[in-house]
Amino acid sequence: MTLFPEEKFSRKDCTSCGTCAGVCPSHAIQMCDGYPAFNSILCIGCGHCGVFCPVNAFKLEPLSRNAATPQQLRSLLEARRTIRFYSDKVPSEDEIDTLISVLSQSPTGVNQQGIIVRVVKGADAVGSLVKPVRKMLKILSLTGLVHIVGKITGMSDYIARLKGGEDMIFRGAPVVLFFFVPRKNPTGRADGVIAATAVMYHAVSMGMGTLWNGVAERIYPFTWSWHTPKTRGTRLTAVLCIGYPALEPKWKTPPRIYSVLNS
Ligand SMILES: Cc1cc2nc3c(=O)[nH]c(=O)nc-3n(C[C@H](O)[C@H](O)[C@H](O)COP(=O)(O)O)c2cc1C
Repeated sequence: MTLFPEEKFSRKDCTSCGTCAGVCPSHAIQMCDGYPAFNSILCIGCGHCGVFCPVNAFKLEPLSRNAATPQQLRSLLEARRTIRFYSDKVPSEDEIDTLISVLSQSPTGVNQQGIIVRVVKGADAVGSLVKPVRKMLKILSLTGLVHIVGKITGMSDYIARLKGGEDMIFRGAPVVLFFFVPRKNPTGRADGVIAATAVMYHAVSMGMGTLWNGVAERIYPFTWSWHTPKTRGTRLTAVLCIGYPALEPKWKTPPRIYSVLNS
């Protein structure tokens, strides 16, 4: 938990309005003799009690009122394109820290949190992720299996280029982020995807680009050399390649198709 409301709450500031009890999503607050009484077993530490308190009886930091306008948010969404060509400028440690810090505002189901981001940075480190995959492909090629899979999936050319030495997986990205979420989180997959999405858009606002890496995510369970004991008990939910783009989009993305069902 990130907030223990009972510890932060000050009786002398409380006006007994009952807002905290009313907004608590887990019904962990009852009003007793005009003051909130907290049930620490039910409390999920989300902070709704304090955030909506009209007199800041929970001593939280002031909220910035500079929320993005709909147009600003739309511009951010429009500016995002998948990046497969990176400039020579490598994101610094500070920039990566700032980029990831957006996770301190990322929601998780029942406020479980616990997201782990593994940062792989630099050409050598990223290259060393590709090497074992290439080795595995070469061994499997001896069985003829790779040839069959390539034919079935239409990925023969992709596989040949990967085997031939091209980094088809990370495409030369200077930074790769792996998002892990505790297996015990009941909404773990969604928690991780929301977190990676927040980082993806934050990257755009910082002038960087991303590639959401479905291939890396798919092969992760079979690529044991990528595993580390530090992520035991978690599951991988997303892989993002990050870097400064070598090419800037000049025009808007052609509109994507979606459906609305009104019923
Ligand atoms: C879940 C997901 C997984 C993806 N996996 C890969 C991938 O493994 N390799 C790749 O080159 N692009 C990958 N992409 C990028 C898509 O190919 C990309 O979104 C698509 O080309 C549309 O381009 P845009 O993202 O610039 O709109 C992935 C995108 C998503 C959303």
